[in-house]
Amino acid sequence: MKLRLLTAWFCALATLPASAADQSLQAGKKLVDTHCISCHASSYGGDGSGIYTREYRKVRSFNGLKAQVTNCNTMLNLKWFDDEEQQVVQYLNHTYYHF
Ligand code: HEC
Repeated sequence: MKLRLLTAWFCALATLPASAADQSLQAGKKLVDTHCISCHASSYGGDGSGIYTREYRKVRSFNGLKAQVTNCNTMLNLKWFDDEEQQVVQYLNHTYYHF
């Protein structure tokens, strides 16, 4: 009985970081969907994701991705906080770049 409780407790702990990461990815997706996709889609069609996966894409490293997201944030005057930029970087990396 005690062991079962302990196991359940460990499992709960183990799933915590995963769901926090999921939430962060969801938040990043929402930010990108709202602020970024329409413009990319107008030049690359579909959902605009072709811009991240094109052969001659500009972003070549994780730091490059961070820099690009910061530039977009500044250029578009979105006033995202650091954690929002992070969420967008995580989402784009997780979904498209895989650095
Ligand atoms: C007004 C249009 C526009 C908006 C809005 C926009 N982008 Fe872009 N984005 C572009 C264009 C055009 C390029 C390609 C630039 C190039 O090829 O030199 C680009 C390129 C990028 C790239 C690099 C793709 C590659 O080649 O690897 C990333 C990442 C990116 N944008 C992220 C964002 C994010 C995040 C946002 C929202 C905050 C955003 N963009 C909003 C027009 C836009």
